[in-house]
Formats: sequence, structure tokens, C-alpha cells
Amino acid sequence: MTTLQDLFDNNRRWAGAMEARDPGFFRRLEIQQAPQYLWIGCSDSRVPANDIVGLMPGELFVHRNVANIVVHTDLNCLSVIQYAVEVLRVRHVIVCGHYGCGGVEAAFERRKLGTIDNWLRQVQEVHARHAAALDRLGSKQERLRRLSELNVIEQARRVCETTVVQEAWSRGQSLSVHGWIYAVSDGHLRDLGFESACAEQTAAAYLSSVAPARPPAK
Ligand code: CO
Repeated sequence: MTTLQDLFDNNRRWAGAMEARDPGFFRRLEIQQAPQYLWIGCSDSRVPANDIVGLMPGELFVHRNVANIVVHTDLNCLSVIQYAVEVLRVRHVIVCGHYGCGGVEAAFERRKLGTIDNWLRQVQEVHARHAAALDRLGSKQERLRRLSELNVIEQARRVCETTVVQEAWSRGQSLSVHGWIYAVSDGHLRDLGFESACAEQTAAAYLSSVAPARPPAK
């Protein structure tokens, strides 16, 4: 009898159902993975990457951390991006945030939670950069929503600026970077209008997606 037996029971049921639906599924996966997408998302338990976009094991390469942050000195995130782009040769990198993000909220309110405050400084930098536009919004709820969106856009731009992505583009590799946001309240993804497929597109993608005149995301 192992601890957390219910999780092992769930696992055996899941593996059995997968194999029943598609005999040989796990054997084929064992040989290779060939995902087309790298997902950089929040660690939040309500935002399970594969489920949201309906992808199977083997179809989505995933990196998650609190508040979906991309830092140019984070060896973990950089290694994931490098492996995804250069070895797996994914065609899309998706940075996906979510409304109601506890990390974004803690950063916004400058809460003192411990070590994580240092990590969330990154979100406070986003807040500071866009303070004027955020202050123009009426309610705290609207500001938080917009800060969550702006955080995604800033992190997506950072992905574009990594040496890995810059070099992939200069080699002519087909690779697009996207900024999306997920609503826990209705399960829907929204495209934030940031999309860059080459070095020359990034600045325009950034400017158009942070523009205050942008219509509300649908
Ligand atoms: Co979050």
C-alpha cells in the first residue's frame, strides 16, 4: 500500500482508458515525442495546459512557473526554450497567462509572501512600465485583468528577444511566438493580438497589442 493510493488508482484507470481508445498509444510515444508547440504558462492548478487546448501527451511541450514569467537569466526557462526550438523544432511558442492569477495579484498589491516576492518583482516591473495606462482604468478588477494581459505580452516579447529565438529566425526556421490569456471563469482562451514570426515583426506586434485603444479581448 503506497501513500496517495487514490492518485495511483486514477493513473491506472487513465492509462487503461488511453490504451483502450488507442491501442499501442504508449508504445508509440515511447519511441519519440514530436510536439508542434511550446506552452509557457502559470503553475496555477486551474490552468492545465494540455486540457485547455485539447492536446494529447506528446503534442505539447510545457514550461510553467508562477505568473508565466520569462527571465533572460532563468536557466530553467531558457533551457526549455532552447530544447523546444532547436531539438524538438516546435513551430509555435505560446505564452499563456490567466485572469485571476494569484501571482499577478500579489505583485499588484505588493503583498509580502516570502521568497516568491523576488520572483514577482518581474510583474511589478510590468506594472511600473504601464502604470499610466493601468491607472486610467476604472476599477481594481479592470487593472488586474489588464496587468495580467500586459504581463503576457511583455513575457512573449522576451521570448522573441532570447538568443535562441533570434538565432532560429536568422536561420530561417519557421517559428511564431504568441500571447494568449485564459479565463478560469468560463474556460475560454483569448488571443491578445501579440504574434511575431520574425525579428522584424516583434516591435510592431508589441506596440499594437499594448495599445490602449485596443478593443476588449473576445
Ligand atoms: Co497564475
